[in-house]
Amino acid sequence: MYDVKEIRKQFPMLDENKKMQGHKLVYLDNASTTFKPQCVIDAMNEYYTECTANSHRGDYDLMYLVDKRVRDTRKLVSKFVNCDIDEVVFTSGDTMALNTVAFGYGLKYLTKGDVILTSEGEHASNLLPWFRVSQMTGAEMRYIPLDEDGCVTIENLKKVLDKTVKVVSLAHVGNVMGYDLDVKAIAKLCHEVGAIFIVDGAQSVPHMKTDFKDWDIDFLAFSAHKMCGPTGIGCLIGKKELLQNMDPFILGGGMNETFTKPNNVVTFDAPAKFEGGTQNISGIFGLKAALEFLMSIGMDNIHKYELELKKYAMDKLKGVENVVIYNPKARNGIVTFNVKDRFSQDESTYLNYKGIAIRSGQHCDKLLNCYLKTPATCRASFYLYTTKEEIDYLVENLINGGDILDAYFN
Ligand code: ALA
Repeated sequence: MYDVKEIRKQFPMLDENKKMQGHKLVYLDNASTTFKPQCVIDAMNEYYTECTANSHRGDYDLMYLVDKRVRDTRKLVSKFVNCDIDEVVFTSGDTMALNTVAFGYGLKYLTKGDVILTSEGEHASNLLPWFRVSQMTGAEMRYIPLDEDGCVTIENLKKVLDKTVKVVSLAHVGNVMGYDLDVKAIAKLCHEVGAIFIVDGAQSVPHMKTDFKDWDIDFLAFSAHKMCGPTGIGCLIGKKELLQNMDPFILGGGMNETFTKPNNVVTFDAPAKFEGGTQNISGIFGLKAALEFLMSIGMDNIHKYELELKKYAMDKLKGVENVVIYNPKARNGIVTFNVKDRFSQDESTYLNYKGIAIRSGQHCDKLLNCYLKTPATCRASFYLYTTKEEIDYLVENLINGGDILDAYFN
């Protein structure tokens, strides 16, 4: 049985006594970042208190311990997403992972006449690196038309996918609309025209089972901080051959086998060649603890629970006339909405006065708002520790809420 009360006890930030604006804290901004369980905090502290050393640069016990933990973490990541261990590159997060592909692969292989295919429902981290690569190479940016729900469909993908498309880069689950793609089917279509398929997994890997091999995708990016792990650490997963053939974006210590004057560098094989500089080692310790924590609950259980929360929220909001929901059909814990006649940031400020944390604005996706025909939206996002009582409290405040001044004077 999924015991949310027991799960919550493991998170210091969910302490019953934690208050925001004098109210019990209700944190519903999990698509932005998640709280960390004590085991993750302990693992990071362990690095600083029990076993501080660099990795891969010395021959003493302390460093062996660190190296072992880095290797064990890489192995656990490979199990978590189902890939080979040397297909796991540590990065500072999802953004760095996507930039590593854009500049390592895109800059090397794209040229004028090629097309980079994406959608208007993407996060800035999956658009802006490609904007830059398109400027630098002359490759064209093309967008898959969104359907009336704001979703990328296979049908619409087929309309714009041809042999000029060399790269397709899409979020598995969009951070605003929350729709999930059939990435396996998309990978197949991309490969038929000779394109590679990059999946931004920032909003999917933390919430559902991931199967890199079975989906046959070429690259996958995600961040630890959205899945109970630390900030400043994430992963790029890439097919071995692609990683091996692309260029590193960051050069420095730890990634080169040798270098000679005037400018000759021989890099290590992947993944080391993409891990120049000292890595976020405490983050790697924390990532391992986060993965163990998620695996102890089970990704299928987490996904099922979040679907239950989403349905609960939708049922509660059904018929609430002053609330417009933009993504009722999305199968995850993201609810994007506006309260009629109220600017989204006024709404989130009002909710803040009631102890509720949500995100409002454009959510790092400045193209989507033109599509939604609204300058900004509110987004409540749930995670494995969210309760139905918290959703009740949100809905109650959406229904009965006033404006900022009401909150201030009440
Ligand atoms: N990508 C994060 C979000 O959507 C920051 O909120």
